[in-house]
Amino acid sequence: MAINYHRTSHIFTLDTKNTTYQMKVDDFGFLLHLYYGARISGSMEYLLTYFDRGFSGNPADVGTDRTYSMDALPQEYPAMGTGDYRSSALVIHNGDGSDCCDLRYVSHEIRQGKYGLVGLPAVYAGEDEAQTLEILLEDSVSMVRVSLLYGVLEEEDIITRSVKISNLGREDVIVEKAACACLDFLSGNYDLISFYGRHVMERSFQRREIAHGSFSIGSRRGASSHQYNPAVIVARQDATEDAGGCYGMMFVYSGSFLFEAEKDQFDQTRVMMGLQRDLFHYTLERGEVLTVPETVLSYSGEGFGKLSNQYHRCIRKHLYRGKYGQMLRPVLLNSWEAFYFDFNGEKICKLAEDAAALGMDMVVMDDGWFGKREDDNSGLGDWQVNEEKLGCTLGELIERINRLGVKFGIWIEPEMISEDSDLYRAHPDWVMRIPGRKPVYARNQLVLDFSRSEVRDYIFGQICGVLDQGNVEYVKWDMNRSISDIYSQERSPGKVAHDYVLGVYEFLEKLMKRYPDMLIEGCSGGGGRFDAGMLYYTPQIWCSDNTDALDRLKIQYGTSFFYPPSAVGAHVSAVPNHQTGRSISLQTRGIVAMAGGGFGYELDPDKMTADEKAAVKEQIITYKKNAQLVLTGDYYRLSSPFENVYTAWMFVSEDGEQALVSAVMTIQNGNLNMPISYVKLKGLQSDVLYEDGESGRCYYGSALMEAGLPLPVELGEYLSYQIELHRKL
Ligand code: GLA
Repeated sequence: MAINYHRTSHIFTLDTKNTTYQMKVDDFGFLLHLYYGARISGSMEYLLTYFDRGFSGNPADVGTDRTYSMDALPQEYPAMGTGDYRSSALVIHNGDGSDCCDLRYVSHEIRQGKYGLVGLPAVYAGEDEAQTLEILLEDSVSMVRVSLLYGVLEEEDIITRSVKISNLGREDVIVEKAACACLDFLSGNYDLISFYGRHVMERSFQRREIAHGSFSIGSRRGASSHQYNPAVIVARQDATEDAGGCYGMMFVYSGSFLFEAEKDQFDQTRVMMGLQRDLFHYTLERGEVLTVPETVLSYSGEGFGKLSNQYHRCIRKHLYRGKYGQMLRPVLLNSWEAFYFDFNGEKICKLAEDAAALGMDMVVMDDGWFGKREDDNSGLGDWQVNEEKLGCTLGELIERINRLGVKFGIWIEPEMISEDSDLYRAHPDWVMRIPGRKPVYARNQLVLDFSRSEVRDYIFGQICGVLDQGNVEYVKWDMNRSISDIYSQERSPGKVAHDYVLGVYEFLEKLMKRYPDMLIEGCSGGGGRFDAGMLYYTPQIWCSDNTDALDRLKIQYGTSFFYPPSAVGAHVSAVPNHQTGRSISLQTRGIVAMAGGGFGYELDPDKMTADEKAAVKEQIITYKKNAQLVLTGDYYRLSSPFENVYTAWMFVSEDGEQALVSAVMTIQNGNLNMPISYVKLKGLQSDVLYEDGESGRCYYGSALMEAGLPLPVELGEYLSYQIELHRKL
């Protein structure tokens, strides 16, 4: 049993293969957190200490005992108003105007299988793969009830947490803040690793100390954002890539979020993940329930590499759905950087001919095929095929492409609307806009109010009308601006930001059900909504609008801490690169893009030389040979682009018999007289002899892992190497 409850001590113990999570209901009904970390035995109650804490608050239940304070005790789900002056996981504004919620234990239930969340993405597991613990807490005055949900995936070292907040009282209450996971650490010094960025430079690695005070990252943009990713690592200060204790917190949500870290007066550390509190005042009417999306927790005692692998496995096996979750993805040729808006049906067919000749599987017609859309100032919302521009119907175009043996995919941006569109002229009230104010524009577009079902249903009908015109096997779902003017004609404004995200999920769920064989790739100005919530619907996400191979090393490195390479859309584009102006060799561009399960090209093959075309053909053969490894193998970061003169990574098959090692030189000074870089490999079997497919040289796994492989010294910029290793038979 992964979950155990001890009747007399009232201790809950959640065990996974290598970790333990423990909490306790104390004599006053408070749910106290006892421990999370490497697997241990027995009760951790001895860690709780009781000293006179002077000016900290004491609950009335303890009489004159000043040693009992919620301000000092570790808690499972701290709520505002109990004498705990640290950040709260829950803030409830009651009907009487007070902000207080005193949660005490009512009951609990242990179930086989993993709980699901209605209308929200969540980790799933078979009945025999997981257990669920539900603990019911209640504030006896307001009758606000909180269900804490824990999903334990024993084999995967994964514990998920979600929360349901219900109003059983007589008056409406407002949820002002709701986290789904809080971790209180009684001792230790920790660092926070988070992933910050901007459009065309997402998920840069940052490590900083969690010092005294409170620190937060988050998004107020209505999407998880380019700026901060909703997944963080809380690491012991001595933790590294290969050693030491570290905790992951990955929010399975695509909207605004808030992560907080605080070191308190007693040197205790509290970290929390949940919904963003700004632009959120969620009125709970009598009988209404708010489900806070889940956070996936995991602990590794062996550094970040192992932690990443635990998340990768969890996402691959317990979050992706649909057939493409586990299947090889088509190698595609996308029209965006090839033509931008300047294309017609002939040009798309020519792309398909080139794709066929080069060995690619699919052509994707990106932005510009609908309504009046010759640039990004108009047309969004008018999901009617511009047959005049294409010179044929969509059905005819797809048939021509399919006859070449090439699949067809298309770009959509369902959540958005241009003011210059027929849809806006017909339904100006469907956009997010605050009455009496001018809206904020971004990319000259506005946001449709997806919290309203009639808006979603209309767009769904329009999009299906397009997809039903032919054999569309892929959709790129884009979302190209942050949301502002959070307001809805129909709903209480404080609910809109969250209900919008629920609306997006409902739409995606319907789309998946209606087109089960279609691959949906997520996108948001590149990687502005690259999160576990989206991965439940779209097993691949366009990682960044930046296709420059050098920048991509950093972007893909940061992305890899939580998200598996199979989730990463990565394309080879033309040089000089359109985002950086840099010219990097085709080989290096190929090797970097091959680190993604959504491999493809984003250029006009017509502009390539015969040699380049031959090289692309070879690249695709290499990719297809190794695609299974990229999709299902274990991924290892071998060196950081933020620290080293070269960046390297590798994939190892689950049985340890095959590996693919890639390395790119990023800093070269005095090339021919440079110090030698030895890349130490990981994840191989020590006593297995591996053969380098190209040179025929053989090495033992132990040698490659202990001493590494020397990278050649050569003339040239951003040189790259790829080594395929197989067990020598
Ligand atoms: C976003 C996407 C690009 C492309 C354009 C089209 O920026 O990230 O890949 O689809 O929109 O407008």
